Amino acid sequence: MHKIDMDLVEMTMDVMKYAIDRLSSTQNKIGKPLKEEELKALVGDTITKDGIGGEKAFNLWKKHLTKSNVPIDHPRHLAFVPASPTRAAVMFDLVTSASSIHGAYWMEGAGGIFCENEAMRWMVSLTGLPKGAFGVFTSGGTAANLSAIVTAREYWRSLNEQNKFEKGLIITSIGAHSSVKAMAKVADIDVLLVDTEDRLQASALKDKIRGLTPHQRERLFAVVATGGTTNAGIIDDLEGIANLCEAEHLWFHVDAAYGGGALLADSVRHEFKGIEKADSITIDPHKWMFSPYDCGAVIYKNPELAKQAHAQEGSYLEIFKDEGAHGFNPTDYQIQLTRRVRGLPLWFSLATHGTDRYKEAIERGIELAQIAGRMIDEKPHVELVRAPSLSCVLYRRKGWHAEDYRHWTYENHEKGFALVTPTKWKTGDTFETVSRFCFINPDTTEEDIEAILDSMV
Ligand SMILES: Cc1ncc(COP(=O)(O)O)c(C=O)c1O
Repeated sequence: MHKIDMDLVEMTMDVMKYAIDRLSSTQNKIGKPLKEEELKALVGDTITKDGIGGEKAFNLWKKHLTKSNVPIDHPRHLAFVPASPTRAAVMFDLVTSASSIHGAYWMEGAGGIFCENEAMRWMVSLTGLPKGAFGVFTSGGTAANLSAIVTAREYWRSLNEQNKFEKGLIITSIGAHSSVKAMAKVADIDVLLVDTEDRLQASALKDKIRGLTPHQRERLFAVVATGGTTNAGIIDDLEGIANLCEAEHLWFHVDAAYGGGALLADSVRHEFKGIEKADSITIDPHKWMFSPYDCGAVIYKNPELAKQAHAQEGSYLEIFKDEGAHGFNPTDYQIQLTRRVRGLPLWFSLATHGTDRYKEAIERGIELAQIAGRMIDEKPHVELVRAPSLSCVLYRRKGWHAEDYRHWTYENHEKGFALVTPTKWKTGDTFETVSRFCFINPDTTEEDIEAILDSMV
């Protein structure tokens, strides 16, 4: 398995050819997710005592398995938060794998971590956080949110003895991503929700805080605001919330996992005012900074607090803290020990293209949402649910019910035409099923949008 022979050389060529074809292709099909038993029937047993051989396994992958995936970068994949990694970033993902780097400690991964930190410095500069702020790349937004909130909770517990015995409490809004509740469950923290899917205003947050019991108020240690909600691209009142958090001595976390890329866009940067006062921020380069999966990031105003919460101790780890091994250790600032240097593809792509090209590609996503909004206004069978925000558009097909949206989604997927999924939007006490676009890929065309809307007639 670890020998170099002719088979290995040939397999390397095959894999490289596949990677080159995929990298240079502009016609990737929207694959069909077959059922597990269907896939099994197609490929048979792949894990056997003697192995089926690389050639056979690779052929099964190419012939059957890869066709059961939806490429995240298909220009008519407008569901959830799609992605569109640059070709340079994907290329360097191959280099990252081939280089076998352990990215936890500087002692082992100095070269890779240096590159990650160059990219991170640029990301931090977008936020406007004060000098000293810094961050690390994580597996995604969920891990970033969790790392940040555990840091906040540990800091709060360090402030007074009684907090060590209390269950912490955070406040966010129902517009926050599901991962906020999920990570609170992992950290055993209670979550209170302000009942708005629209922009979370400081006044509503203030009312929520005023309504707490004295014991709840003692347990409250953080607020999570969103810089671009997943459902609708809404940016909370970051400035007002920042000021309230400062007055109330609460940790202020901004989840900009999806929206963070828009910090680069001159057209909307002002809407993020207040983010520079955050204690911690989540931004996912694998969403709107064109990195391959998986690459999230957490940034701290005071990274030392993250280190106090996350640095692991162990006799086998002591050498890493030694003078001779001295350097920046990413593991100290988030929940994971062993880690891939997953910021490396972003670094290479940024170094290759420069930051202006990123700005243009992100502005295009915002522009596509505006274009889609205008088309929807002009077509009689559809209407906007709310004005497009960042790169999200919520719209309804007049006369359709939840079942119609689902049927249309499956039909388009089956045909390999598009992946556009329904969502719900809350108005008053009712949740309405509507359709949603999220634009990330700058290669999506106006013709793509028009064709999708026309398929709803
Ligand atoms: C605002 C927001 N936060 C967090 C997440 C979770 O990120 P991940 O899926 O990378 O864990 C998402 C994912 O869409 C998101 O949009």
